[in-house]
Amino acid sequence: MEERRFGPVVGLGTWNTFRGDRVTAGAVVSAALAAGVRVFDTSPMYGEAERTLGEALGARRTDAVLATKIWTADPDEAARQYRDQLDWFGGHVDVEQVHNLVAWREHLAWLERERDGGRIGRIGVTHYATSAFDELGAALRTRRFDAVQLPYNPHERTAERELLPLAEELGIPVIVMVPLGSGRLVARPPEGIALEPLREFGVETWAQALLKWALSDPRVDLVIPATKRPERARENAAAGSPPWFTLAERSLVERLAG
Ligand SMILES: NC(=O)c1ccc[n+]([C@@H]2O[C@H](COP(=O)([O-])OP(=O)(O)OC[C@H]3O[C@@H](n4cnc5c(N)ncnc54)[C@H](OP(=O)(O)O)[C@@H]3O)[C@@H](O)[C@H]2O)c1
Repeated sequence: MEERRFGPVVGLGTWNTFRGDRVTAGAVVSAALAAGVRVFDTSPMYGEAERTLGEALGARRTDAVLATKIWTADPDEAARQYRDQLDWFGGHVDVEQVHNLVAWREHLAWLERERDGGRIGRIGVTHYATSAFDELGAALRTRRFDAVQLPYNPHERTAERELLPLAEELGIPVIVMVPLGSGRLVARPPEGIALEPLREFGVETWAQALLKWALSDPRVDLVIPATKRPERARENAAAGSPPWFTLAERSLVERLAG
């Protein structure tokens, strides 16, 4: 198996931002790579995002850690999704996740065979809904997953109750989806002056404060904010280095998030 930890680092999500717009995707991927981003998350659920990401990476695929998903209960469709991924991502998927827990028990055996054959780096599992967290926990307890992707931000903290402690106990890296609340948390940023105490932590913007909030939880390994704007890919990547927040800075961000 590959190295367990990704980071703590900032990656790049592709939901709603990489739907077939090659020019935008190329510019965002170039900016992200230049800023040190290595992990890119996508899915067959995100329209044309997988193909667009593969094309945007091109020869730079080898610089990337590619995380995608299988999103179907139909074995034939799963095989088709996987075949396309191998085509688009140079014959290797670094992190193959079962999207939204769909048929996860059924998929595990073939995913493990592919991992053992070297075409998959590690197997992960995702869900966005707190109502599915019990089942996500059950999946992790099988100890057959090497990554879990879940929502975590100052407005969505249910994962703190069981899943983050469980992932820590089992040594499973946590990938945080929707770290900016799908844009809602950044829609009305606090006044710049409110961020003053965070400047010594390298924080210049509210988005960076939110990303660093998640990454400063030692149980979190990777955040995957999505953006259509190259300058924001750079801005977000800058939140992925120490110093990390203590409880005091995290509390400030929680208060500012309201
Ligand atoms: N497995 C699942 O069930 C699941 C579900 C949801 C998401 N995900 C994954 O998690 C990723 C992230 O989640 P998400 O895309 O829903 O939301 P997100 O990353 O929390 O927020 C993305 C939004 O924030 C804006 N944004 C990004 N950087 C910003 C910045 N520096 N300043 C201001 N605004 C900024 C973007 O707008 P602009 O484009 O205009 O910058 C976009 O509207 C997804 O792309 C996907 O890869 C997985």
